[in-house]
Amino acid sequence: MRVVFLSPRYPPEMRQFTRGLAEVGAEVFGVGDGTPDPELRRYLTGYLEVPSLLDEEDVIARVHAWVRGHSIDRVLANWEPLVMTAARLNERLGLPGMSVDAVRGFRDKQLMKERVAAAGLRVPRAQRVRSIADLWSALEVTGYPAIVKPISGAGSADTYKVESRADVQRILPQMRHVAEAICEEFIAGEEYTYDTVCIDGVPVYESVTQYLPNALEMRSQEWVSPIMLSVRDLDQPHIRAGIELGRKAMSALGMGSGMTHMEWFRTASGEVVFGEIACRPGGACVVDLMNYTSDIDLFREWARVVTHGRFEAPTLRKYNVGIVFKRAQGQGRISGIAGLTEFYDRYRPYIVEDTLLRPGTPRRDWKATLLSDGYLVFRHPEMAIAREMAIAAATGIQLYAS
Ligand SMILES: Nc1ncnc2c1ncn2[C@@H]1O[C@H](COP(=O)(O)OP(=O)(O)O)[C@@H](O)[C@H]1O
Ligand SMILES: [Mg+2]
Repeated sequence: MRVVFLSPRYPPEMRQFTRGLAEVGAEVFGVGDGTPDPELRRYLTGYLEVPSLLDEEDVIARVHAWVRGHSIDRVLANWEPLVMTAARLNERLGLPGMSVDAVRGFRDKQLMKERVAAAGLRVPRAQRVRSIADLWSALEVTGYPAIVKPISGAGSADTYKVESRADVQRILPQMRHVAEAICEEFIAGEEYTYDTVCIDGVPVYESVTQYLPNALEMRSQEWVSPIMLSVRDLDQPHIRAGIELGRKAMSALGMGSGMTHMEWFRTASGEVVFGEIACRPGGACVVDLMNYTSDIDLFREWARVVTHGRFEAPTLRKYNVGIVFKRAQGQGRISGIAGLTEFYDRYRPYIVEDTLLRPGTPRRDWKATLLSDGYLVFRHPEMAIAREMAIAAATGIQLYAS
């Protein structure tokens, strides 16, 4: 099996998917902007360096020329901005994979909602917006509060909650560079993910993770220590309802083989509402959390699924897994960490990863990466204890910078 894998270097977890492909016996031809380091090189049979991975037309032309005369079996991508590039290349090269039309349903948030709603599922009222006039008339339909965001966004970039006309006036200048947006009814509720590995649209692995607080709040308020909690027990009624919503949404959108990452809401009245879905794995350590939940390697299982059509990992869920991202107070370099010793004294056996930046290290840009100034991952078979650890790490540990 010879595969072209777009962007094996970035985001960082793409290295793991590259490793997975090599481990299941695929010859991996990477395409990226920049040079792979020696470790990544070990998993690559070939590498094409392109000037800009996000220049879709250029990448398609270069890859097409590069693979001409070679037999390639698949073009693969696990990074949101490249899933369409991969689909277009597969169509152009006559290779199997999701069609351009199916992938469009996973990229365009309005089309996505129309297709999911057509299957009888609850989605936020929404309208596509191409101008300021469009936005005002969309707000007549959605009412306030509403969410305004790019039609094909990621990581909550340029996403705003507006509660009044004055709020809209305030965000307009910041939305000016967004060519196409969507205006949605604001859904108040808890926010969860539904993540899968699928073979021909049928999930062979499923996982649900709760965001605390909701993704938009974690990405827009620096003082927050974002928590993600992978839920061990998927048989609770509200979680089951989210999973059912996810399965139906995937079938409405024509999912193929690979990983998906969906977000959904549970309102105070218990209703489950579709948020969005991507035909690629979740970022921000979501795959790591799933791996810790079941002690498996989904980087490799994804690779097995897309190359051999088989999934071989156990699906037994052993733990609730939590991750807490920390942001230091102050600017510059990390100068100290308070509360970490106490956290270790209390929970040491359950801590599985600690990447908190230590004194002397420069702070990261929390807006650019959810990884922030590092994170802690921990797990426990009982949700109450996993949740207790999450709250303790979020509220009891503080990094300082100066
Ligand atoms: N209709 C909505 N109601 C409530 N919150 C929303 C809505 N749309 C988006 N959000 C919030 O904004 C975040 C980012 O929006 P999303 O559609 O997931 O875009 P992205 O592609 O940037 O992840 C969501 O995770 C959620 O917290
Ligand atoms: Mg999202």
